[in-house]
Amino acid sequence: MSTPLTIRRATLEDAATVADLVERAYRGEASREGWTSEVDVIGGRRTDTEQIRALIAAPDSVVFVGVDEGRIIATCQVQRHGPGLAYFGTFAVEPTIQGRGLGRRMMEAAAEHARTTFDAAALEITVVAQQSALIAWYRRLGFVPTGATRPFPAEAWGATPLVPDVHFVVMRKPLSDRDEVDTEDVDRVG
Ligand SMILES: CC(C)(COP(=O)(O)OP(=O)(O)OC[C@H]1O[C@@H](n2cnc3c(N)ncnc32)[C@H](O)[C@@H]1OP(=O)(O)O)[C@@H](O)C(=O)NCCC(=O)NCCS
Repeated sequence: MSTPLTIRRATLEDAATVADLVERAYRGEASREGWTSEVDVIGGRRTDTEQIRALIAAPDSVVFVGVDEGRIIATCQVQRHGPGLAYFGTFAVEPTIQGRGLGRRMMEAAAEHARTTFDAAALEITVVAQQSALIAWYRRLGFVPTGATRPFPAEAWGATPLVPDVHFVVMRKPLSDRDEVDTEDVDRVG
């Protein structure tokens, strides 16, 4: 049975709840319940309320939340990033209910927003290279590795890589038939 989900834009009042969800899904002990936990790959917090408030308030940025019976159970962010390109990240589903299609629905909502509101021809994500199951899923969703990689800014983020060679791979999903956009490298991560 599919989980009901209403997708809406987050408000500043949602920031603390969204930050807690992101933390639980990515790196907290609770993330072990999900299928993409970073808990054995990267130590330290993934985000906090102030960072989420900044994403909600940023121009050309939307944080979406997926709500079931008044409870926020999923989130993602999409941001305009230069002509024809949007960036997708801060993507989390409550660990105990992952694998039921909620992530796919959040991604589809963000891609639609990027295409219609940001006029984006491509959606970009960055994925921790060690997350091979996640990378395989993004491929199934139409993302293709660009071949670019980005360093993991451990010091700047106060995070600790727990395995060697933690870095990001860049993937892009075409959103229209237009030619692939040509943009400079960007410094954002999923
Ligand atoms: C990434 C995330 C948002 C996906 O949400 P979700 O609700 O699980 O996504 P869905 O249920 O729509 O899709 C899950 C997919 O993974 C597959 N999957 C489920 N369990 C899996 C497992 N143990 N191993 C591999 N694949 C698995 C499902 O079959 C499905 O694939 P399909 O769409 O081709 O059928 C969620 O796992 C999460 O919050 N992860 C922690 C934060 C994170 O890593 N974010 C992404 C950073 S780039």
